Amino acid sequence: MTRWKPGDPKRAAAPMVRVDQAGEYGAIRIYGGQLAVMGDRSPAARQIAGMAVQEERHRAFFDAMMARRGVRPTLLQPAWKIAGFALGAVTAAIGPAAAMACTVAVETEIDKHYEDQLIALGDSDPELSAAILDFQAEEVEHRETALAAGAESAIGYPILSAVIRFGCRVAIATAQRI
Ligand SMILES: [Fe+2]
Ligand SMILES: [Fe+2]
Repeated sequence: MTRWKPGDPKRAAAPMVRVDQAGEYGAIRIYGGQLAVMGDRSPAARQIAGMAVQEERHRAFFDAMMARRGVRPTLLQPAWKIAGFALGAVTAAIGPAAAMACTVAVETEIDKHYEDQLIALGDSDPELSAAILDFQAEEVEHRETALAAGAESAIGYPILSAVIRFGCRVAIATAQRI
């Protein structure tokens, strides 16, 4: 294991790696909850399963980076496990459009979150920045896919979107520290 020097940018980035791993894990749990309700046969379910595969790749990267850098996971992991799955299951139970609305809301916040991180990192941690840039592009694709699949036709879309986006912001803020 590498020994960190004071002021090491990789050490400074530890809270970022922690929240990103938690977020990708949360995304997998959301899609897991949706697919548990939707099954795997409908067109929407197949699109969601495809997005979930990409989230697995994102999570695997952050898992490996945490292990290499000695970053501890968030203590809120058990909460993310339950809350993510519940959010997925509830939105999917409302209907396919609400499931897609969930993805639009989550990815909107994640896109902003990754953008903020890229700005904060500058050129201090090229390995992390390259991964974030790569994953951010896929998160934006997920948002576009979900919009094209009719997310905005979900009943109560504005409130649903606002509630989920607020939840994401709270989760991001807490996972960096706890
Ligand atoms: Fe992701
Ligand atoms: Fe995503």
